[in-house]
Amino acid sequence: MMRRFLVAIDGPAGAGKSTVARLVAEQLGLTYVDTGAMYRGVAWRALQEKVDVTNEEVLAQLAEATQFKLEKEGIRINGKWLKEELRTPEVSQLASAIAKMGEVRQALVRKQQEIARQHGVVMDGRDIGTHVLPHADVKVFLTASIEKRAKRRYLELLAKGYQVDERTLQEEIRKRDENDQTRKHSPLRQAEDAVFIDTSDLTVSEVVEKILELCRTKVGGN
Ligand code: DC
Repeated sequence: MMRRFLVAIDGPAGAGKSTVARLVAEQLGLTYVDTGAMYRGVAWRALQEKVDVTNEEVLAQLAEATQFKLEKEGIRINGKWLKEELRTPEVSQLASAIAKMGEVRQALVRKQQEIARQHGVVMDGRDIGTHVLPHADVKVFLTASIEKRAKRRYLELLAKGYQVDERTLQEEIRKRDENDQTRKHSPLRQAEDAVFIDTSDLTVSEVVEKILELCRTKVGGN
């Protein structure tokens, strides 16, 4: 449909970014880029290769040397499909720690910008509208109440056969938000020109429709 149309979707963990971003990309024939998976991919490689996970320079080099290939279904990292491997608690924890490192961020941001030079994208993350694609055609900041985000995570885990305490999930989410919002490099914040969408009381298709509408307006109006 469109060439090099750029959509930036930011927001806290659990707001539904990846589900929504993937569907929007599909509808518009754009490439979906899950930047969280890139941070997770570097964390996964660091664990695999047993590098010193406190050494920023080593991790930045690892990020630089990692190849991310975008395909319809997701990201291939150094030729390998990774899915569940990127979602383990160890990888999540390390991804969050390395996402605080300025040099690692620089390496990944460069790669993200390179991808967006070659393809129209729907890119989701924490710093896309503010930092990675400041000139994106459409910017969205997606959020939802902590209670709703915890509930969704609870149901997801339940479906996979895990019993977890909803209150504990709420506390984890609250801590993660605080971490994301207060870190020194590229803290999570809404870009001035981003459209704020609270997904607490919306279905996935309602959110997707809202974003598609913003894209249509942009294409039609300017
Ligand atoms: O969205 P996620 O949970 O898959 O992201 C994994 C980690 O990477 C999380 O701690 C937030 C961080 N991240 C980031 O700092 N900037 C991005 N653009 C994407 C993710």
